[in-house]
Amino acid sequence: MEKAAIVIDNLTKRFEDVTAVDGLSLEVENGELYGLLGPNGAGKTTVINVLCGLLEPTSGSVSVGGYDVQKEPVKVKELIGVCPQDAAVYPYLTGRENVELFGNLHAMPKDKLKRNTEELLGKMGLLEDAKRRVGKYSGGMKRRINLIMALVHDPKIAFLDEPTVAMDPQSRHAVWDFIRELKKENKTVILTTHYMEEAEELCDRVGIIDRGKLIALGAPKQLIDKFEEKNLEDVFIQLTGRRIRE
Ligand SMILES: Nc1ncnc2c1ncn2[C@@H]1O[C@H](COP(=O)(O)OP(=O)(O)OP(=O)(O)O)[C@@H](O)[C@H]1O
Ligand SMILES: [Mg+2]
Repeated sequence: MEKAAIVIDNLTKRFEDVTAVDGLSLEVENGELYGLLGPNGAGKTTVINVLCGLLEPTSGSVSVGGYDVQKEPVKVKELIGVCPQDAAVYPYLTGRENVELFGNLHAMPKDKLKRNTEELLGKMGLLEDAKRRVGKYSGGMKRRINLIMALVHDPKIAFLDEPTVAMDPQSRHAVWDFIRELKKENKTVILTTHYMEEAEELCDRVGIIDRGKLIALGAPKQLIDKFEEKNLEDVFIQLTGRRIRE
């Protein structure tokens, strides 16, 4: 059998006195849309940062696309696209310039970059605003341009850290359609979200983590049946409690 697209093996990540990820193991199959869920501070962003080589594991290992992230970081970077939790944009550049900058960092051929840029700007409803400076964009527009920047080079594996946060229903639906298209193109996607209906609707499987540990794993429907709840949100509350986290 083909190796999983992403393998996290007994990963622990500590920051001073905080254990953000605590002996986590999980696998994401090729072409799978995997939801990484968990309360604030559960360790989701830390996992993504380790997967893309921004943070070193304290112990354990991770591989992406068959490459060990510590040993072959450049190979991994060629395969992935990352939409970070906090929008990382250049405010003095226009939307189109931000996207082109990222495409050029990936050394994309000019014609492909142009084609992908226009296509994605269209899908995200940003064609008209593409010549405006991103510093003047609304919060939801910044999120959408950030998503385009993450995916303009057409990566095989995408890490989307709360891509729909603070988006209006129209934008959110556009992003959902877009994520469904990634799935049709057989891309592997890790999606984090606090919108349980989004995870329920989109994800093949979800892993719920709490305090850096995996506490439930399965298709949304399987988990709903297993924990005898009516939706994923209720499963989530049953497993992680009602107390507000950090
Ligand atoms: N650079 C850092 N230095 C110290 N502690 C950190 C650092 N990054 C994360 N943490 C801590 O690690 C834990 C996990 O944080 P992380 O950002 O991974 O959570 P998360 O699941 O993404 O939460 P959220 O849903 O709020 O985005 C938290 O306790 C956080 O305070
Ligand atoms: Mg996070």
